[in-house]
Amino acid sequence: MNIAEAKKSVVFKGFLDVEIDVHLDLFAEIERLKKEKNAIILAHFYQEPDIQDVADFLGDSLGLAQKAQSTTADMIVFAGVHFMAETAKILNPSKKVVLPDLKAGCSLADSAPADLFRAFKKKHPDHVVISYINCTAEIKALSDIICTSSNAEKIIESLPAEQKIIFAPDKNLGGYLNKKTGRNMLLWNGACMVHEIFSLQKITKLKVRHPNAKVIAHPECEEAVLRAADFIGSTTQLLKYSAADHAQEYIVATETGILHQMQKDSPGKTFIPAPPNNSCGCNDCPYMKLNTLEKLYLCMEYEIPEIIMDEELRLAAKKPMDRMLDISRKAGLIG
Ligand code: 13P
Ligand code: SF4
Repeated sequence: MNIAEAKKSVVFKGFLDVEIDVHLDLFAEIERLKKEKNAIILAHFYQEPDIQDVADFLGDSLGLAQKAQSTTADMIVFAGVHFMAETAKILNPSKKVVLPDLKAGCSLADSAPADLFRAFKKKHPDHVVISYINCTAEIKALSDIICTSSNAEKIIESLPAEQKIIFAPDKNLGGYLNKKTGRNMLLWNGACMVHEIFSLQKITKLKVRHPNAKVIAHPECEEAVLRAADFIGSTTQLLKYSAADHAQEYIVATETGILHQMQKDSPGKTFIPAPPNNSCGCNDCPYMKLNTLEKLYLCMEYEIPEIIMDEELRLAAKKPMDRMLDISRKAGLIG
C-alpha cells in the first residue's frame, strides 16, 4: 500500500485500515520504529495496558504536556485523545505529532463548542478565563490560563482573590475547586461522560462488602461521589497516593486504565473499579480505548494520522499554555 492509499482510509475512518500479519511481534516492531524514526511514545494512564507498557513516558495531562514540550525526538506518537495530541503540537510545532486514531475525541472537550463559549465570554468581560486542558485548541485560544487536575488550585491561587473567573469546561472540577479555594468561579456546564457515570449508591453498597477499602476519586466526578471519597486527585496523584498509603483495598472512581499502573506499583493491594450507573458495568473511556497496539504500530510505520494546525490558532492557544507551565514551574509542580 502506498501513502496516498493509506491516507484515504484515515480520511474515511480516522485511522489506517490495514491488515497486519498476525505473526508480527508488534512490541518488537514498535521498538524498531522508535529507533529508526527517533520517535517517542507518550501515553496517558487511560490507555490499554499493552500501550502503557510500550510507552516511553506515561503520565497525566500535566506530565504529558511538559514531556511534549521538552522532547528532542523527531516524532511524537501520542497515545491518548485528540486534545492531548493537539496540545503537544501547540507546544512543540517543529515535531511531527501522530495519533493512532483521529476519532479519539473527548466528551468534555465536545461540551464546549467555540462559538457558544465565545458568546458566553463576551457576556462577562470582567472575568479571567481559566480552562481545563481537556478542551479544543479553539477554547484554549479563548482562555487566559490553562490548568490540569494536578495544578488547578495553584493556577487559581495565582490570581488575586477579588478577580472574577470563568472556569471551563468541567462543572464538576470547577465546583470542587470553588469549594477548595473558597472562590465563586462562574462554571461552564460541561462534564466528562466517564466520570459522571459512577453510582454513589453502588459505591456505598460496595463499601459494606469492603469496609476497609478507601474510596479514591478523580475531581471530574460528581459532587456526591467526591463527598464519599477519602482522597481526590489527578491520575498521577491517585497513583502516588495508593502506592504510599497503608490501606490494602481501594475503590477507584476514575477510568479503569489507571488500575494497570496501580496494580504494578502495589502488587499486594486490591484495586476495585468504582461501579458505574449502567447495566453493562463499563467505565472505560470509549475515546481513549479507540487506540490499539495495532493502530499505534501503523501510525508509526506510515506517520499518519498527523496533527496539523493553523499557525495563528496555535500561537493563540500557546499563550495560556505557557502561562500554565510557567506557574507550575514556579510552584515546583514540574521541573
Ligand atoms: P489527568 O490524567 O490529568 O488527571 O486527566 C484525566 C482525564 O480525564 C484525561 O482525559
Ligand atoms: Fe474526555 Fe472523560 Fe475520556 Fe478523559 S475520560 S478523554 S475527560 S471523555
